[in-house]
Amino acid sequence: MTDSHARRLAEEALTKLDLRQRVAQMTQVEKNSTTPEEVRREGYGSVLSGGGGSPTPNTSEAWRDMVDAFVEASTKSRSGIPIVYGVDAVHGHNNMVGATIFPHNIGLGAAGDEDLARRIARATARETSATGIRWTFAPALSIPLDVRWGRSYESYGQDPDLVARLAVATVQGFQGDDLSRPDALLACVKHFVADGAIRYGSSRRVDRDALDQAADDAALANAGSHEAFLERVARGAWMLDQGDAEGSEALLNEVFLPPYQATLDAGVLNVMASYSSWNGIRMHAHGDLLTHLLKDTWQFPGFIVSDWEAIDQLSDDPAQAVALAINAGVDMSMVPYDGVRFIDTLVELVRSGVVPEARIDDAVRRILYTKARLGLLSEPAQVQRPNVDVVGSPEHRALAREAAARTPVLLENRGDLLPLRGTSGPLLVAGVAAHDVGLACGGWTITWMGEEGDITPGSTMVDGLREHHDVRYEPAGQGEARAEVGIVVLAEEPYAEGMGDRYDLNLSEEHLALVRRVRERVDRLVVVLYSGRPLVLGPVADLADAIVAAWLPGSEAAGVADVLLGHVPFQAKLRFVWPASSEGLPVHPFEGADGVVRKSDGRAAYLPGHGLTPSA
Ligand code: BGC
Ligand code: BGC
Repeated sequence: MTDSHARRLAEEALTKLDLRQRVAQMTQVEKNSTTPEEVRREGYGSVLSGGGGSPTPNTSEAWRDMVDAFVEASTKSRSGIPIVYGVDAVHGHNNMVGATIFPHNIGLGAAGDEDLARRIARATARETSATGIRWTFAPALSIPLDVRWGRSYESYGQDPDLVARLAVATVQGFQGDDLSRPDALLACVKHFVADGAIRYGSSRRVDRDALDQAADDAALANAGSHEAFLERVARGAWMLDQGDAEGSEALLNEVFLPPYQATLDAGVLNVMASYSSWNGIRMHAHGDLLTHLLKDTWQFPGFIVSDWEAIDQLSDDPAQAVALAINAGVDMSMVPYDGVRFIDTLVELVRSGVVPEARIDDAVRRILYTKARLGLLSEPAQVQRPNVDVVGSPEHRALAREAAARTPVLLENRGDLLPLRGTSGPLLVAGVAAHDVGLACGGWTITWMGEEGDITPGSTMVDGLREHHDVRYEPAGQGEARAEVGIVVLAEEPYAEGMGDRYDLNLSEEHLALVRRVRERVDRLVVVLYSGRPLVLGPVADLADAIVAAWLPGSEAAGVADVLLGHVPFQAKLRFVWPASSEGLPVHPFEGADGVVRKSDGRAAYLPGHGLTPSA
């Protein structure tokens, strides 16, 4: 599909639409809050699955049938223009049971390998498009300055060049050589811009003085139970996420904008606005950055999508909120529950002259151009989309295992303990996470928050070790027998977005007690962390001989065993400042006059670039 052909198709389609149909193209609703019949009647531009937005049963066939039914209904609408279905495929087609779950971006950043990122994105595109979905809300270009933020693991790291390189490779992997092929995904770079610069304490999402009220908020309570919600808030949930980002022009120009520019140059056609604000102005209402910079100066040809219910946050007056967002440059509105209300509101705003009709045409032209580039406005391609049996295929699982082996960073290695060579006798392995798929996958897996347990098929570190070793596995380290080598795996409990914000980064008392218990019974101890960010090691720094940050390795965590055993060399590097304590946070590479954090100032345990590489 050439660019001029796509422009022509978009123009032809646009002229046939009346105002209501145009506004409907700008509308994206959530699949649980609509039906194929409503999609046909309203002619929406898009439907999405939010975190955990799976069909029942959660199988690849049911996903495919669900998406096909929505697409089919949209082609029978008055406009006949197909929807583009969107999903957060952020580490594989991760809401779907049986999909291959790759390491979260924080691990891919540590590996720092563009080819690996590209291959993972291609595999994700194949599994996702096999179920009819052509749009993923990924990759995140976030650069977290404060790793207490619950979205840190969605980031490749604190280095803008690295983020740009890996994001470009990921966009290329999703979009392929030709976006109109049925196995290509429209990529989305998010959250524009400076989502990682939010100031601790500035989140407005939860009113800590009115917690009972907030817990009634269905979306926030999505954590599971009401109690789970309150418990998370007590640990610091919603202290940062969606808050105020602040910084200098230089920080914006040198740190946060370059990855966007790089992915735009690589042909990305969708940008998601950030919930956060930049120096006091909400990003969803930031005409300077959305329209003047992105569209006018950078000549971005694609469309801007708003984040989930983000427009509602702009004003208490719903019509004013819509006017602010659309006039600032938002093209498609993610209004999960409110499609009809949004259409009515925006049509009225155009009739009364608050939103210029030209703004509507610009938005719809961008959406239709992107749909044309996806091949949705022309005859179906000759090429077939992948069959659903590509989902969780042995080839993709092998790739995920390779990734799980290449992402762990070796922080400490006293006496050259790792890789484990020549260890005879059984390995003592402790920690629930060592043999738990859900904990290895983290948030955005099957459900929005993610969950401990057998949530989807996969392999664990214990499985991987057992391929070569006798393993004595004690989830709670409850036994008494001694062993030469012990491995303790400690995991953060899964979380997503603001629910994962924390007051501090300390390991829990239970984790420390487990490490101490196992320490007594072994000659040499390895501690492996499964976490969405650096954690404060505290006493573990002295108790362990070797310490490995394995991030969130995904459904093929057997790969973690491959690197521990030396079948794959340790090569990954830290891309974050690793804090020495929870005092004096945040600590990041862009602070201070010379912008340099030094280990000697006591706040950093390790600096970016650290990562031991013993010969295997
Ligand atoms: C998140 C986005 C995500 C969207 C759709 C929002 O809450 O901030 O990253 O793409 O939900 O699930
Ligand atoms: C959805 C997520 C979304 C969140 C926003 C949840 O109910 O599943 O996709 O990001 O709400 O609050």
